[in-house]
Amino acid sequence: MSTETVTKVVTTHRLAEMKARGEKISMLTAYDYTMAGIIDAAGIDMILVGDSAANVMAGYQTTVPFTLDEMIYHGKCVVRAVNRALVVVDMPFGSYQGDSKEALHSAIRIMKETGANAVKIEGGEEVIEGIERILTAGIPVMGHLGLTPQSINKFGTFSVRAKEETEAEKLYNDALLLEKVGCFGIVLEKIPAILAEKVAKAVKIPVIGIGAGNGVDGQVLVSYDMLGLTQGFSPKFLRRYANLQEIVSNAVGQYNKDVKSLDFPNDSEQY
Ligand code: KIV
Repeated sequence: MSTETVTKVVTTHRLAEMKARGEKISMLTAYDYTMAGIIDAAGIDMILVGDSAANVMAGYQTTVPFTLDEMIYHGKCVVRAVNRALVVVDMPFGSYQGDSKEALHSAIRIMKETGANAVKIEGGEEVIEGIERILTAGIPVMGHLGLTPQSINKFGTFSVRAKEETEAEKLYNDALLLEKVGCFGIVLEKIPAILAEKVAKAVKIPVIGIGAGNGVDGQVLVSYDMLGLTQGFSPKFLRRYANLQEIVSNAVGQYNKDVKSLDFPNDSEQY
């Protein structure tokens, strides 16, 4: 493979082409420079600076408390590391629901201060005015439907969404609306696979699933979950590709022993 092919950057246009030719799209979250660099170098197509940072970085129970300034900080760290992937930054709770002017202002701050390529917004028809205004400013927007964690206080549970007909119909219509106004992609979280596939077939823009089966155009996972750095969270859709918690814990435990036993540093590890 030539260097040119390896470093060719991913754009919203390329993602649409990938969907059109049936090539699956890979996406992972990242929140810091070091991990983002590893993920980008491994060839992942899209990096999401998710507001799941609230959980895995900051230790909050939900994403609700996370602020725009905090998202911008993580966005900046990630963008500095990325050469190829398309970087999407989540708009946090409270930064876009008020009115469309506020939504635009928040999106502009994200784009100017982080250097990211796009923003992601949870919700459909109820936030469409804000999405349209952001799009008008030339900022690419990714939608997010199904389980939208910022609404956890309304849902009351993190269980599968859109199992009932009315909610499934609303989700389907919201997806069509997001495409119509110009979103470049949609994340579908924790919904029946059959509904996700129906949505992916109905729209031309890429549909990226998390807990939404394999009939969609790509997959996203929270990197800390798939790497096994987090342990308490084990939904059915999560495949763990490593157990980094065990590896890190063993290494730290060994270091602790070595320091206390005077094994570290040895003669070759000092000046
Ligand atoms: O914040 C996040 O990590 C997300 C993904 C779960 C899609 O929105």
